[in-house]
Amino acid sequence: MFFCTNHLFLRNFSSSTMTKRIALFASGSGSNAENIIRYFSDNCDFSFPVIISNNENAFVHERAKKMGVPSITFSREDFIEGKKILNFLQEKRIDAIVLAGFLLKIPDLIIEAYPRKIINIHPALLPKFGGKGMYGMKVHSAVLEAGEKETGITIHYVNSNYDEGDIIFQAKCPVLSGDTPESVAQRVHALEYEYFPRIIAEIWN
Ligand code: GRF
Repeated sequence: MFFCTNHLFLRNFSSSTMTKRIALFASGSGSNAENIIRYFSDNCDFSFPVIISNNENAFVHERAKKMGVPSITFSREDFIEGKKILNFLQEKRIDAIVLAGFLLKIPDLIIEAYPRKIINIHPALLPKFGGKGMYGMKVHSAVLEAGEKETGITIHYVNSNYDEGDIIFQAKCPVLSGDTPESVAQRVHALEYEYFPRIIAEIWN
C-alpha cells in the first residue's frame, strides 16, 4: 500500500500543488474506473475519493469494494434534479468528474458548477456514432454495419448534449474483416486503458 503523506500539509499552502480530487461516474462494469484508480495509485497529485453510479447492481461496486474505494448509487431522479448530487460532490470537495462508462445525462446544475472539469470517454470516433442511445455494443455494431475501416476512442469535455462537448483527444484502431462487436470492443477497450488515465493526468496536472 502506498501512502501520500503531503496532502494535508499542502492543502493549506498552495492550490497548484493540491491533490486533485476526482469523482468517477460509472454505470456498468467499471473496468475503466478500476484502470484509472490503479494507474494513479502511487501518484499523490490525484485522488479518487468516490465512485458514483446510477445502478446499485453494477459490477463497478464490486471493483470499488476490492480496491477499498467508497461507491454510492444515486437514483435516476437525483440525476435529473442534480441538487443532491451536487451537494454530495461539494461535501467531498470534488474538483473534477470523469465519466467512465456512465449512461445518464449530467444535470445542467452540475455542468455549470464544474466548467471544463467534466470529461467523458466515448468508444468511437465522434462526431460519428455518438448521441443518445449510442452506447456499449450498440456503438460497435453500428460501426460494423456502416462498413467503417477504422474506429477508436474520443475523450471530450461534457456539455448538456450527449457526446457533443469539445474533443480533447482521439485514438484510432482498425476494423478488421471478420470482426464482431465483441472483438471491436476489445480493441477499443485496450485504447481506453492506455490513453484515458494519461489524458486525465495531462489536462488536470
Ligand atoms: C467504455 O467502452 C466507454 O468508452 C463507454 O462505456 C464503456 C465502459 O466500459 N463509455 P467499462 O464499464 O469501463 O468496462
